[in-house]
Amino acid sequence: LFASVEMIPGDPILGLSEAYVADARPGKVNLGVGIYYDEQGRIPVMRAVRDVEQALAREAKPRGYLPIDGMPAYNQATQKLVFGAESPLLAAGRVATSQTIGGSGALRIGADLLKHVLPNAKVALSNPSWENHRLVFSSAGFEVVNYAYYDAETHGLDFAGMLADLGKLEPGSIVLLHACCHNPTGVDPTLEQWKQVVALVKERGLMPFIDMAYQGFDKGIETDAMAVRLFAESGIESFVVANSYSKSFSLYGERVGALSIVGKGREEALRVQSLVKRTIRSNYSSPATHGGALVAGVLNSAELRAVWEQELGEMRERIHGMRAGMVEKLAAAGEPQYGFIQQQAGMFSYSGLSKAQVDRLREEYAIYAVGTGRICVAALNRANLDTVVNAVAAVSR
Ligand code: LMR
Repeated sequence: LFASVEMIPGDPILGLSEAYVADARPGKVNLGVGIYYDEQGRIPVMRAVRDVEQALAREAKPRGYLPIDGMPAYNQATQKLVFGAESPLLAAGRVATSQTIGGSGALRIGADLLKHVLPNAKVALSNPSWENHRLVFSSAGFEVVNYAYYDAETHGLDFAGMLADLGKLEPGSIVLLHACCHNPTGVDPTLEQWKQVVALVKERGLMPFIDMAYQGFDKGIETDAMAVRLFAESGIESFVVANSYSKSFSLYGERVGALSIVGKGREEALRVQSLVKRTIRSNYSSPATHGGALVAGVLNSAELRAVWEQELGEMRERIHGMRAGMVEKLAAAGEPQYGFIQQQAGMFSYSGLSKAQVDRLREEYAIYAVGTGRICVAALNRANLDTVVNAVAAVSR
């Protein structure tokens, strides 16, 4: 039966982690997957999360099924975080939010749902985009196209190209936008540029699908949600937001995310929610309890939320410090051309390293990066920075 099944190449990101784990060389460094590691090279258990987790362990609650669309306390807290506590959209009941299995689950449920209402739409992704976006949307049956985004010459945004390509899309096309900390490039539009994107999306009648996986990793919780807030204020009737807590709560394996769909009004949001529920039910029935309880526990306590924001701020600052350190040390090693790494936002930098250079980093120096040259700067620390800088300098010569 399965004789015709071909071997599929490993995932370009998660497949790297498998290879990294199997690598026995001491001093290996994983700059592949997007995970924040602390100064000791560990995935942090955030202080506020640990508090909730200990309280949950003491209570030892039964583990019944959650509702299909997840925990109400989680969904309400998510809406406030994503759209802002004072959002008129929330007050008007226009947002249907569902707890999902990570941000990826939100993307896939959102894609499946949009396939019902926009069956012939194309999905436009930035060039480049997160490696999994194409797979998620094509698996949901969409034709996927690209819009210009990254300018390899300037290591910045090809804004003119982006506007030109978005302007050519058919009305009703779905446009996937990264809210902040663009994955994989680390290049985000400015506030002024976002305003132009929103205006163009509105004028062309495009359907925005915003992926927000790194809220709080560039400038702060509120500022990083600027794109969502601009769409909310724009008067655009419908848009979709997928958000993830994997990184901002350091809860990768708990798979905590949410899908929020903005509709015309309260009644429409309720109908949309019913379709989301059926879509979830046919995929995985209902989400998991533990991670959702952790996030809801933190976000619904003013005290723990402040502790969480403080720690997230420390993580953000540490990444900024690592970017600066990397640029400075590379310049000192005779490679001053990497200054752009300091301008990029979030966990990633599109380093400009070629596939051949990335291969050398892995083979000769046990340093893992994505084949496109994406490196996770959030995995750098004072103990591995020199190793990484020396290796990058060596393969750059
Ligand atoms: C990444 O881009 O490295 C992360 O979002 C992890 C993943 O699932 O690919």
